[in-house]
Amino acid sequence: MGYILHQSLKLPPAPRIADIGTGTARFIICLHPEVPDAVFEGLDISDALFPLRDALPAGATLSLLDLKQPFPEHMHEKYDLVHLRLLVSGMRPDDWAPAIRNVFRILRPGGYVQWEECEFLNAEWRKSVPDSRFETAKMITDAFTDALRQQFQHGWNTLPGQMREAGFTSVISDVVSSDRFPETTADMTAGILSLNLTWARMMTARGVSGPLFGDHVDDLE
Ligand SMILES: C[S@@+](CC[C@H](N)C(=O)[O-])C[C@H]1O[C@@H](n2cnc3c(N)ncnc32)[C@H](O)[C@@H]1O
Repeated sequence: MGYILHQSLKLPPAPRIADIGTGTARFIICLHPEVPDAVFEGLDISDALFPLRDALPAGATLSLLDLKQPFPEHMHEKYDLVHLRLLVSGMRPDDWAPAIRNVFRILRPGGYVQWEECEFLNAEWRKSVPDSRFETAKMITDAFTDALRQQFQHGWNTLPGQMREAGFTSVISDVVSSDRFPETTADMTAGILSLNLTWARMMTARGVSGPLFGDHVDDLE
């Protein structure tokens, strides 16, 4: 995207920052050098991806929280910034509005939310290397996108309106292209393909079969 925090955010000294759906706490680890006096809290429905303590900034904490359930009262009006990123695959159409209302409740007056999502449905592969396995990449990604079509129809496009309805007074939509920085496209390609292949293996483990699953996954990879 070209930034960790959007330029419009003006945080107070020693801000309290929550990263919901933190996963590997990548956002906290990347933001810490920019806001070294921040108090970070990573929250996730699962601790499966939580990093080791050593990887986190001093004072940062990680704990369990479900974005879709009302948040405990002790969190209300406590945060200067709530960050969320790439939650879409776990969200059904009706989950977004209550989730953003939950987030609104834990902001201090004047606090910010930065929520990043990808428009997967209209994302396209572009061939930049003549002998790349373009068709293979496209086939795997199309299958992934089809499987998650319902989830991918909402989020990046519905959030701004739902934020206004929840009471946010200033909502900025910053839509950027994924090939904005050519030097990031190799990692982006590897990351997306890794995600798609992981999904194919997960589906295989759940008993799904077909030309994209089972032993075929290794061949495609
Ligand atoms: C694709 S990962 C993104 C991780 C992180 N936000 C990032 O950008 O690096 C999605 C994360 O959201 C978490 N998640 C999914 N549903 C959730 C929910 N209802 N409440 C909290 N976290 C959730 C998953 O456990 C996972 O760690």
